Amino acid sequence: MSATVYVPGDAGALSVGAGEVAAAIAAEAARRNTPLHIVRNGSRGAYWLEPLIEVVTAAGRCAYGPVTAADVPSLFAADFLQGGAHPRALGLADAIPWLKGQQRLTFERVGIVDPASVEDYVAHGGYVGLRRALELTGAEVVQAVTASGLRGRGGAAFPTGIKWKTVLDQPAGQKYVTCNADEGDSGTFADRMLMEGDPFSLIEGMTIAAIAVGATQGYIYLRAEYPHALLALRTAIAAAYQQHYLGADVAGTGKRFDLEVRVGAGAYICGEETSMLESLEGKRGEVRVRPPLPAIKGLFGRPTIVNNVVTLTSVPWILVHGAEAYANFGVGKSRGTLPIQLAGNIRRGGLIERAFGLSLRELLYDYGGGTASGRPIRTVQIGGPLGAYVPPSQFDTLIDYEALSAVGALLGHGGIVVFDDTVDMAHMARYAMEFCAIESCGKCTPCRIGSTRGVEVIDRILAGTDGERNVRLLEELCDTMVQGSLCGLGGMAPFPVQSALKHFREDFRARTRQ
Ligand SMILES: Cc1cc2nc3c(=O)[nH]c(=O)nc-3n(C[C@H](O)[C@H](O)[C@H](O)COP(=O)(O)O)c2cc1C
Ligand code: SF4
Repeated sequence: MSATVYVPGDAGALSVGAGEVAAAIAAEAARRNTPLHIVRNGSRGAYWLEPLIEVVTAAGRCAYGPVTAADVPSLFAADFLQGGAHPRALGLADAIPWLKGQQRLTFERVGIVDPASVEDYVAHGGYVGLRRALELTGAEVVQAVTASGLRGRGGAAFPTGIKWKTVLDQPAGQKYVTCNADEGDSGTFADRMLMEGDPFSLIEGMTIAAIAVGATQGYIYLRAEYPHALLALRTAIAAAYQQHYLGADVAGTGKRFDLEVRVGAGAYICGEETSMLESLEGKRGEVRVRPPLPAIKGLFGRPTIVNNVVTLTSVPWILVHGAEAYANFGVGKSRGTLPIQLAGNIRRGGLIERAFGLSLRELLYDYGGGTASGRPIRTVQIGGPLGAYVPPSQFDTLIDYEALSAVGALLGHGGIVVFDDTVDMAHMARYAMEFCAIESCGKCTPCRIGSTRGVEVIDRILAGTDGERNVRLLEELCDTMVQGSLCGLGGMAPFPVQSALKHFREDFRARTRQ
């Protein structure tokens, strides 16, 4: 019997040489006449150990990492196909403490299954959630999602069940389910990992949503910078059609659901849901004035669910295990688990799925191991380029929507970017305004003009021109943008600036002295 070796084929692992490792393993096996089956799985998210390969043994899946192509001959010599000892050996993958301590619900199959195989998906419990949903009425499915406490993981944290109920309550007719896979926030990669590592979970989540609210057409709006995710999704969608999990007769029920991927055009604002709908309609990505809500008048003017990849992928687990089981994880109004993405200057970066309620400190030090540079952490930016900078004095804050908002931060899509004590916060504030100026859709004045003026004011501060007066002007400008912008881009771009001014004012004062 041939041995099975898992070598991640997702973009993160490929970027550190997983492709070369897979090729070297295949070549060495051929040279030794050793029969071998290589599966290109998703990453388990321990990116600091990638390329992390796994070998199926009687004891379980033995892990080795980080592996380079140059390690391959010695791995064969050490009989790694039987789990042999080697300097890169990590023991059983499931027992690696960094992975073992996690609570993987949404990511339960990522890194485990073959993302191209619907059979493997089903063998690992896939499509049980859809079958459960098909035994219920649409209203019962929506009720289960509501009772689970699931809130949108794309950034706004809106209760998913309420959104679905609004679509369900609209008169019958063409309705849509759309998936926001634009994933534009800095330091985020959970959507990408899911789509590359377990695409059938997303397809299943969207199918459950569609059948619950009476939608027959779905679109995944995927950012253009994700070619590997595009390939994984297209492969999985074709397989799902072939096995009648998509199409005119979903799982033999006579219900129709068609699904397509649409590739975005590289604008951050296309992640905002109404711009995403404009872009899906083939127009320029520009924010729509609300109301009407997309749930009432969305894609092509029809009732539309817009949900993030993580949100939709969380749904099958809820249907399989029950709303109560999901709601048992978490704290306060933040129920379930959150896939946290730890990035930037961090020793052990990657994807950590845990129930809401662990502290930032636990995350940064127990999981992250402190900075990669070995210097002290000065700040972390949470929730993407529009998120606040949080100082070490607030690291005991729990990761939950309300606790973070109480300290002036937001969780967004769960991305955390770490900076050491060499960071210049005045420059980071400038970067936030510049980002907004570049990415503004231009529809409203506070954002379109305000962000450009903001860059100019910070430049004057950095140049030491009339510093105190310009800092005051910057504060007023931030207030105007927060109060007067039409959407979250202009409305939140001041958050990093305001938090930098609040917690790291000395960086601005140094400029004023110069
Ligand atoms: C400027 C801006 C960018 C956004 N980018 C994304 C994105 O890339 N992905 C995403 O899922 N949501 C993004 N959102 C949030 C969406 O507008 C929307 O709330 C989300 O797609 C709804 O899905 P959810 O309820 O499942 O989170 C963005 C919002 C704003 C204001
Ligand atoms: S805040 Fe910026 S991105 Fe949003 S609508 Fe106004 S101009 Fe467009």
